Amino acid sequence: MLVTGGAGFIGTNFVRYTLEHHPNYRITVVDKLTYAGNKKNLEGLDIEFIQGDICDSALMDELVGNAECVVHFAAESHNDNSLCDPSPFVQTNIVGTFQLLEAVRRHGVRFHHISTDEVFGDLALDDPARFTEDTPYRPSSPYSATKAGSDHLVRAWIRSFGIPATLSQCSNNYGPWQHIEKFIPRQITNILCGLTPKLYGTGEQVRDWIHVDDHSAAVHAILDRGRLGESYIIGADNDHVNNRRVISLICELMGLGPDAFELVADRPGHDQRYAMDSTKIRRELGWEPRYTDRDTGMRAGLEATIAWYREHEDFWRPEKESVESAYAKRGQ
Ligand code: NAD
Ligand code: DAU
Repeated sequence: MLVTGGAGFIGTNFVRYTLEHHPNYRITVVDKLTYAGNKKNLEGLDIEFIQGDICDSALMDELVGNAECVVHFAAESHNDNSLCDPSPFVQTNIVGTFQLLEAVRRHGVRFHHISTDEVFGDLALDDPARFTEDTPYRPSSPYSATKAGSDHLVRAWIRSFGIPATLSQCSNNYGPWQHIEKFIPRQITNILCGLTPKLYGTGEQVRDWIHVDDHSAAVHAILDRGRLGESYIIGADNDHVNNRRVISLICELMGLGPDAFELVADRPGHDQRYAMDSTKIRRELGWEPRYTDRDTGMRAGLEATIAWYREHEDFWRPEKESVESAYAKRGQ
């Protein structure tokens, strides 16, 4: 199995999940090691690691040619960064996916494309609808537009060239090894540093949070039993939980009052609500999320994630100051 972007947040968790639950796979990770990738995340694991760029067509040809299947996570992934400089997003998310698809076309290898719920745009806060596999694409940010572009390429390569591929659109992940630029680890590490947690705008926005291990299990269900050519939405039914509730819960779980956060400048073009209807993957492939509870659906997963960041200061501490000073310049 070739895993692109395996030194990033979800890729690292997916590689670890695969070694534990599907030890029949021999894994090669290819990762450019941008600011978001860290080779140390994979230290001690029985895998092959190649530092490389998915835009490098000769390298992709060689690596894809040696694989039986490719799981494609590599991407520029942070919306806020895409608002400052969209260029690497176009390059990696669109051109990089194109180079992989061409290699897959030449070698006839099984391909799974990791996409995101953001390709569908957003819902109004009072709209009870949920995204399904048939929801039209309406991306809002440079990040989500480039992810949508890559999905269109994958579908075109399926239809025009018959490549054996599947896609999945998952909602917001949380868990260990997530970069501290992202909402949940930013707040946890703020509290660990004695800084005040930061909520954009009024915090009414809704993200349909899912634990990263549930995402990994869903990808394996698709690799094992998914129908070629199909897309699968992955979500854990947390679309009743807004950002304000999540930040309050983090504050409470870390011994602060539920209002111990501050409001900061909003994200331009901020998507309001994401909500996933994951009926198809549940019915067809028998997948179910395991991290669920009656409260926000996140308490147990958040407790474990907070404990992980407490114990893994070496993962985040070196970058904390520079990440926060970049946010501070934007009033966030
Ligand atoms: P991340 O930013 O933590 O990791 C991305 C990884 O890709 C990094 O290791 C980086 O070094 C690598 N990379 C970037 N450009 C590369 C290139 N040109 N060549 C090779 N490697 C490159 O991202 P993540 O949060 O782990 O997201 C992984 C994938 O999952 C992305 O495709 C993202 O769109 C998708 N996704 C993320 C979420 C989420 O909540 N984080 C939800 C749904 C889908
Ligand atoms: O929906 C899936 C997407 O989830 C993935 O495709 C992206 O790769 C991933 O980064 C994530 O995108 P979001 O923009 O939703 O995630 P982020 O962690 O940046 O922000 C989550 C919400 O929290 C969002 O409404 C903005 C808000 N936020 C974010 C930060 C960093 C804050 O209120 N405060 C913050 O400090």
